[in-house]
Amino acid sequence: MIFLDTKFIVQFEEYQQLINNELGNLIKKKHKTPIYNAMGYSLLAGGKRIRPILLLSACVSCGGNIKSALAFACSLEMIHTYSLIHDDLPAMDNDDYRRGMLTNHKVFGEAISILAGDGLLNLAYELMIEHCINNNNLNDIEAFKNIATASGVNGMIGGQVMDILSENKTIDRDSLIYIHKNKTGALISAALTAGALLANANNEIVGKYKEAGDLLGFAFQIKDDLLDVTGTREALGKDANSDISNNKSTYVSLLGIDKANEDYIAYSNKAISIFEELNSPFLKQLALNLIRREN
Ligand code: IPE
Ligand code: IPE
Ligand code: MG
Ligand code: MG
Ligand code: MG
Repeated sequence: MIFLDTKFIVQFEEYQQLINNELGNLIKKKHKTPIYNAMGYSLLAGGKRIRPILLLSACVSCGGNIKSALAFACSLEMIHTYSLIHDDLPAMDNDDYRRGMLTNHKVFGEAISILAGDGLLNLAYELMIEHCINNNNLNDIEAFKNIATASGVNGMIGGQVMDILSENKTIDRDSLIYIHKNKTGALISAALTAGALLANANNEIVGKYKEAGDLLGFAFQIKDDLLDVTGTREALGKDANSDISNNKSTYVSLLGIDKANEDYIAYSNKAISIFEELNSPFLKQLALNLIRREN
């Protein structure tokens, strides 16, 4: 990430540290079994933590308590990490590097890496349910439902299915939009929606965070497609040119680099104007930084 203002950097790093510490407590320190070891390998490998940071900062900007959103933030990162472990498998994108390290299946073998992904997904649900039982608040349950839907066949999994079925083909623009909105947009949008819900924001405000999340998530995957073509393994921490070698249908392969550049900036700017309207300077800065990201 390239940072633009110091107040933002400090806040961003504080959120990252909070999330990393909590994830470490949940996985590393307590459990030493082989499956926790494989789960922790990918979870604690140092991703950007964009989704949990979006969730925490949306909660804070709606006047909510950061501590009460932490379990959901960590759960979302677990679901995202599971999706990455499975995405890298030979049956899917067949990649060797992730978050600057060998992919999970390269270290632990395919069987254990499938189970490590499953383990992270289930642990995420356990954490969210535990939070809901302890807090007994309908909005928390609504946030849980949002994350579950965004992760499932009408969200991330649905997008991944279409992504795989669209290899070696020319698909239409609507199918491309479906892939991007679902495989990536859904979890990013759910991060902002859940954050607002956990702060008990009203329906209108929750709707605005969702709208911004849809735009930001869509832009995020267009930028990811661009980085696959323009980045390097060193900068990305994951294999470059993976989409080309799998003959994927991406924003770049279907619409070209110029259109991809134009559109991800346009969608990000639309999200930024909603963050301005919501008076969320941190989220505005985060969106600006995501435009310039190099990994
Ligand atoms: C990568 O997500 C996969 C996509 C959905 C585009 P990130 O770019 O957020 O990856 P990490 O979490 O920082 O490793
Ligand atoms: C992945 O999209 C989306 C997920 C749900 C994991 P990509 O396959 O483009 O993500 P990277 O480029 O491998 O991180
Ligand atoms: Mg993929
Ligand atoms: Mg991939
Ligand atoms: Mg990609």
